[in-house]
Amino acid sequence: MIAIREVEQVDDHLVAAMTRLLPQLSRSAPPPTTQSLDAIVTSPATTLLVADDDASGTGPDRIVGTLTLAVFQIPSGVRAWIEDVITDERSRGRGIGEALTRRALEIAAASGARTVDLTTRPSREVANRLYLRLGFEPRETNVYRYPSGG
Ligand SMILES: CC(C)(COP(=O)(O)OP(=O)(O)OC[C@H]1O[C@@H](n2cnc3c(N)ncnc32)[C@H](O)[C@@H]1OP(=O)(O)O)[C@@H](O)C(=O)NCCC(=O)NCCS
Repeated sequence: MIAIREVEQVDDHLVAAMTRLLPQLSRSAPPPTTQSLDAIVTSPATTLLVADDDASGTGPDRIVGTLTLAVFQIPSGVRAWIEDVITDERSRGRGIGEALTRRALEIAAASGARTVDLTTRPSREVANRLYLRLGFEPRETNVYRYPSGG
């Protein structure tokens, strides 16, 4: 069975699992560390969700998916962003991405967020279908990125 939970404590299993999952989204992302994950978990603005598969033992393999939600207050209201949604290759097509996203939407709503935004490349067809199915609507806006070098 799959269970979605909010990470409250960073441990070696989490670091190992995120090290396995993150390259499945981005080959250029720096490898996660205890410190970088701890920064997400301890920040009031971010929630790190993971999907546990109880059929995959008790080690890092148990963690088969992840999503990070950011919720923040700006002058126009409370806003939320979903980032870094990843299901492990061997666990895809079982509703884990959907369950992670639904939980994030619940947390965002409970936090008073007016909107929940995300971006995904058109080439990520499974992801685009997932978000449309859950009720996300394409937004007419230009998305810009400044490569600030950090
Ligand atoms: C996008 C991603 C997170 C989706 O994860 P997932 O856990 O496979 O998502 P779901 O299982 O909820 O949905 C995927 C498909 O499985 C189907 N599905 C869900 N549960 C199912 C079940 N029990 N039986 C059969 N099919 C099922 C869904 O209907 C969906 O089908 P579709 O692609 O034809 O629309 C995953 O593909 C991934 O990690 N991709 C690489 C990283 C990425 O692109 N992340 C998104 C960045 S924005």
